[in-house]
Amino acid sequence: MENNDTSENIKRFDSWAKTYDTDRISSWFRYIHKMMLEHIDISGKKKILDVGCGTGNALALMAKENREAEYYGIDISAQMIKNAREKTGNLANFEFKIANSENIPYKDNSFHLVFSSNSFHHYPNPLKALKEIKRVLKDGGTFFLEDACRDVFFPIWLQNIYRQKFEKGHIKYYTTSEITGFLKEAGFKHIKIVKTLKGIGIKKKAFTGIGMFSARK
Ligand SMILES: C[S@@+](CC[C@H](N)C(=O)[O-])C[C@H]1O[C@@H](n2cnc3c(N)ncnc32)[C@H](O)[C@@H]1O
Repeated sequence: MENNDTSENIKRFDSWAKTYDTDRISSWFRYIHKMMLEHIDISGKKKILDVGCGTGNALALMAKENREAEYYGIDISAQMIKNAREKTGNLANFEFKIANSENIPYKDNSFHLVFSSNSFHHYPNPLKALKEIKRVLKDGGTFFLEDACRDVFFPIWLQNIYRQKFEKGHIKYYTTSEITGFLKEAGFKHIKIVKTLKGIGIKKKAFTGIGMFSARK
């Protein structure tokens, strides 16, 4: 049976939103955003959607490079969205909505680019989320996914076991082949593992192992 319970994540992320931009892990997430930007083409008057956008940091970073694009963000946490709106308040080309990745409140074929960072392992039904992402992408549009992957670095494999046991909103850190498999099953084409990174003590993150993927509709 499908799991639709996001209540634990809403509680956790509403609470985390208060310190999200200043706490220890924040510099690591910002570092990831910069790395992602090296691999994503945000040029031109694109419509760009961030799924699980948190406080909008990745979109704000993109807007510094390209003021022409339109930036959209969805997140299940009302507090994260409130912070994202405050952060980008004076810019007309931003729109943030409280919404679930599995039910994206935009029409079919809306976006040139959709991306998601540090969020995918929280989705109760990852395949459903990917099909939604594909639905809102324009034909030929790109989806870029970044998340911790448990086959990239052993500590993430261990963390996954611990988190699955003790952290209710944590669904799973997937392997890189599980993610490419989901992307294929959702109907994406040109699926690529763009980069994997493992390390100890990068930007105040103790142990890390991530995967970055791109796929096209
Ligand atoms: C660790 S934060 C990452 C935020 C941002 N993407 C970043 O890189 O800074 C994970 C975010 O995913 C959001 N999230 C979790 N489950 C979600 C879901 N089912 N739909 C949409 N957003 C979700 C959380 O509310 C949280 O803001």
